[in-house]
Amino acid sequence: MSGKVFAEFSQDFSKNLGGTPQPLLQVEGLSKFYGARRGCADVSFDLWPGEVMGIVGESGSGKTTLLNCLAGHLAPDTGRVLFDTRANGMQDTVTMSEPERRMLGRTDWAFVHQHASDGLRMNVSAGGNVGERLMAVGARNYGDIRERAIDWLGRVEIAAERIDDRPTAFSGGMRQRLQIARNLVTGPRLVFMDEPTGGLDVSVQARLLDLLRGLVREMGLSAIIVTHDLAVVRLLADRLMVMKDGQVVETGLTDQVLDDPQHGYTQLLVSSVLQV
Ligand SMILES: Nc1ncnc2c1ncn2[C@@H]1O[C@H](COP(=O)(O)OP(=O)(O)OP(=O)(O)O)[C@@H](O)[C@H]1O
Ligand SMILES: [Mg+2]
Repeated sequence: MSGKVFAEFSQDFSKNLGGTPQPLLQVEGLSKFYGARRGCADVSFDLWPGEVMGIVGESGSGKTTLLNCLAGHLAPDTGRVLFDTRANGMQDTVTMSEPERRMLGRTDWAFVHQHASDGLRMNVSAGGNVGERLMAVGARNYGDIRERAIDWLGRVEIAAERIDDRPTAFSGGMRQRLQIARNLVTGPRLVFMDEPTGGLDVSVQARLLDLLRGLVREMGLSAIIVTHDLAVVRLLADRLMVMKDGQVVETGLTDQVLDDPQHGYTQLLVSSVLQV
């Protein structure tokens, strides 16, 4: 079942049967200021299991700030971020302890950075980069770890013979695919992505997007994807949030928002006037 269908199904389901199943993520009144400057303000939304949410908006609109607050990299000033953890059910990730948040970052969550060098260890082999994530959740058997690393390199279309190469010897697209393998090997439930295809050649972007779409569908992943690029959300996102000056100005199903934008700012964005 696609994320979109599942989201609609689960919303209907919860209406009809009083509350089950529940959202994977519930964000309520989230704000982050840098001194007097607004990063993001009063953001609220639910993300359902298997759903992919796109966040779009011009440069400086608060996309990265919001994503970093959601992923626990930045402490918001106000608001709650409730996440349905595998270990303990719904938890407010803003108020949980730092070690608990770090544990989530290794287990239930994954974070794909725009620049692969921020998400990889550049001086560790490709196999080591993938294996390290497995060891962080308790894997110990060298043979198993190497086997799973080879399997994941294959899934992101990196030849097994490159397993001992460092990412410094990889192209930009390969590094990004390795970062994705490192993130997904532990079977996260929610993946945060900040401009995952930014800075890559158009042809490389297209292949990476196809790959991501396949993995998201196959693994039933939930994801939040920040991007300038409406083609990226058109391909990957079930639902969209449009941000301007730190606030959400429009939300809806991706096709609806892109084909029939209601807010003047979204209309500009879609007509590509504001696209960078
Ligand atoms: N560390 C910081 N210190 C001060 N202000 C910041 C900081 N990070 C972001 N801001 C401000 O917060 C606002 C939102 O920035 P943010 O980086 O979230 O935007 P963005 O939508 O991700 O932009 P881009 O598309 O260019 O990446 C901007 O006005 C920015 O100047
Ligand atoms: Mg940004």
